[in-house]
Amino acid sequence: MSNVDRLTEILQRLNAGEDPAQVKKEAQALLATLNPAELSFAEQKLLDAGLSPEILRQLCAVHLEMLGDEMAAMKAQLVPGHVLHTMVSEHDVILGYLDALEGVNRVVQQLTQYDATREEFAELVHIAEHLVEAESHHQREEEVLFPELERRGVTGPPGIMRLEHQIMRPRKKELLQLAEGAPQLDFAIFRKKLAGIVSMLVPTLRDHIFKENSILYPTALQVIADETVWERMRQAADKIGYCCFTPAAVSVYTLDLRTLLPFERHDRIFQVWQHLPKGQTLRIINDHDPKPLHYQLMMEYPGQYDWAYEQQGPRDWIVRIQRIQEAVPVGS
Ligand SMILES: [Fe+2]
Ligand SMILES: [Fe+2]
Repeated sequence: MSNVDRLTEILQRLNAGEDPAQVKKEAQALLATLNPAELSFAEQKLLDAGLSPEILRQLCAVHLEMLGDEMAAMKAQLVPGHVLHTMVSEHDVILGYLDALEGVNRVVQQLTQYDATREEFAELVHIAEHLVEAESHHQREEEVLFPELERRGVTGPPGIMRLEHQIMRPRKKELLQLAEGAPQLDFAIFRKKLAGIVSMLVPTLRDHIFKENSILYPTALQVIADETVWERMRQAADKIGYCCFTPAAVSVYTLDLRTLLPFERHDRIFQVWQHLPKGQTLRIINDHDPKPLHYQLMMEYPGQYDWAYEQQGPRDWIVRIQRIQEAVPVGS
């Protein structure tokens, strides 16, 4: 029996109503040996077998707890400018808004009437506006990321994420309407509605982000192995645009090669270089003069970079390599 079949069987038993605590132990042992793509395929098998995405969404909670490490591993692999790096950064900002929303709601629940002088009401409008503004993030996922996954046979998890976007979309708009209408509304009704939306939206969106960070995005990194596809995706994402709160990619990305084993250095440099947007700089710190790298850039990326030494020995060499021309996908 393959890992995917074993996990599918465990998830089916959960669905059949078996004691979650009992099943969880078995699931934990198996999950420790699975990679994100295997998880995604197991979930998809359940969907193919007729399980509704709604039920699967609830089942997911059991193995989500164990996936925190996946996200840390993935984050370490991403470089600024990469489609997923931008999305993970946006997730961090959105999670901040959710924390703030909970805080505002806690205060409002203690109040007995609307008070225009209290900053919580303005903050609520601000938070709601930004949650609605996150739409371009979902659009990039739905139009750029998910189709590439689906093309590679990963269809289940994107389907669940789309479903969750659909569930949350009207609630975010409702929150904005409510926040803007606070001065006119009956306060008791406003307070109750706010509590209702917050209790639904905050856990659902947190859970959604957690699943993307720890299952969907790592799966994407695994199944989309071709760098030229990522570059194409970045250009498609650029066209859709970003949220007002999208953190600007840092303009100088420092890579300390001294912390890497010699055989890892070359791949890491080119992993960063290939995703580096025009105008940005890769700054490398090395324990010897990286002349061979300079020759390689000359041969393979003529006219695309500017090379400048910041420090030339005696112990460390620091070079700033700025991309002065848009990345041209390798092989094109
Ligand atoms: Fe999403
Ligand atoms: Fe997302």
